[in-house]
Amino acid sequence: MVTKPKTVFVCEECGFESPKWMGQCVCGAWNSFYERRVEPEGPAAARRKSSKTAGAGAGAGTVHASPLAKVETGNARRLDTGIEELNRVLGGGITAGTLTLISGEPGIGKSTLILQAAISLARRRLKALYVSGEESPEQIRTRADRIAPAGIPDGVLILSATAIETVLDAIEAERPDFLIIDSIQTMYTETLEQAPGSVSQIRVCTDMLMRSCKAIGLPAFIVAHVTKSGDLAGPKIVEHIVDCVLSFSGEKSRDLRLLTASKNRFGTTSEVGAFEMRENGLAEIQDLSGCLLEGPLGQASGTIATAVYEGTRPLLMEIQALTAGAGTGFPRRAAIGVDNARLGMILAVLERKAGLDLSGSDVYVNIVGGFRPDGTSSDLSCALAIWSAARGAIVPAGVLAIGEVGLAGEIRSVRGAESIAAEAARLGFTRLILPGANAKTKTPPGISAEGVSSILEAISLVFADPGSSPG
Ligand code: TYD
Ligand code: MG
Repeated sequence: MVTKPKTVFVCEECGFESPKWMGQCVCGAWNSFYERRVEPEGPAAARRKSSKTAGAGAGAGTVHASPLAKVETGNARRLDTGIEELNRVLGGGITAGTLTLISGEPGIGKSTLILQAAISLARRRLKALYVSGEESPEQIRTRADRIAPAGIPDGVLILSATAIETVLDAIEAERPDFLIIDSIQTMYTETLEQAPGSVSQIRVCTDMLMRSCKAIGLPAFIVAHVTKSGDLAGPKIVEHIVDCVLSFSGEKSRDLRLLTASKNRFGTTSEVGAFEMRENGLAEIQDLSGCLLEGPLGQASGTIATAVYEGTRPLLMEIQALTAGAGTGFPRRAAIGVDNARLGMILAVLERKAGLDLSGSDVYVNIVGGFRPDGTSSDLSCALAIWSAARGAIVPAGVLAIGEVGLAGEIRSVRGAESIAAEAARLGFTRLILPGANAKTKTPPGISAEGVSSILEAISLVFADPGSSPG
């Protein structure tokens, strides 16, 4: 019997299938249905049908679950990308058969980074297939010439394609060791009617890629663009399919680029990779702290150094605050690099526990260099920077403060104090103000660890003259 292809509507959120389009799904999601054409007698359908007609007994003997302890992890099979900063963010290189989404604003350097990885892999006699739906092979060649002026290795293959079926055929024919899709928004499958870049196209294409990559253990990097507000737009819905989600960020006016992971099935999400965009590609930055500390520390009010322990290394950076009379009568709070809710909490603690009333002032806080640290160890320095700005009292040069600020005005312990002390000493700091609970931290020669238990104690320790004139 010949059956016509039929159409079903599938909810993106929960996978519920309906023969008709629905405005709201049974799971509560609105406008979440996409159209899928179902081929009536595909091999899978035929197989399902034949096993059904053969009865339950036939299937029962063929399906086996295996003991978890006997499952091979394959985790050990990692590809060294030749780019240390990228390896570290991935948790020690690219794991075989994994999909990594790399997102970032247009022009930030995503294509440059993965082309560098492809060239570096090809130099070690591996084959990298770069699929571009955005740029012509000539444009990519021009970029490659900048990155590798000494010559592009033969192992970098370029394919200009947007149909995912063509990509899968190329994988089959070339059997590469590494795959790049630049970008997922340009890919489409013939089985869907929607335009490339639509939510259903992105989802189905990623799914098809994942199946083929997993089947042959091929690791893939997928470039995804972000919207103006920094969201992954369509790709947000594939975040749960892929194994790693990396984001590449930085201020276009500066050359510093930071690579972070928001999801990583094979490593932590707290590592940071740092690069500098140069004339001939991205250069790795080993001394990120040195790069983030180039401001007027010890000379102007409102600035202080702080540190966070991200992933496996301490990072030192500068935090700045500015307070100004609220011109509109409605005080503004603006923070870059510090969570707005945390800023509100720190201001409330400063008011109630240290007597600094800023309810009539604008408050601005900025972590210099576009860095967005996780965690709470920069709380204390944020509070000290605001105090310094409001009272016009300069934090002396050589001082670095770490600690979480609690609602009672207490300073709570942070992790990685010992490595922070070592890094601070290396960069010439002489005093580390830290939570009382971390006061026994071993410090190298040249730097003293000074424990504080409250915000008031920290203020009186840092500022010889804490100042008196607010503003
Ligand atoms: P690109 O990798 O094309 O960004 P994306 O893929 O994220 O859109 O990088 C674009 C910018 O980087 C562009 O403004 C040129 C600059 N660039 C350099 O400064 N040096 C280089 O060696 C390369 C290749 C690019
Ligand atoms: Mg690009």
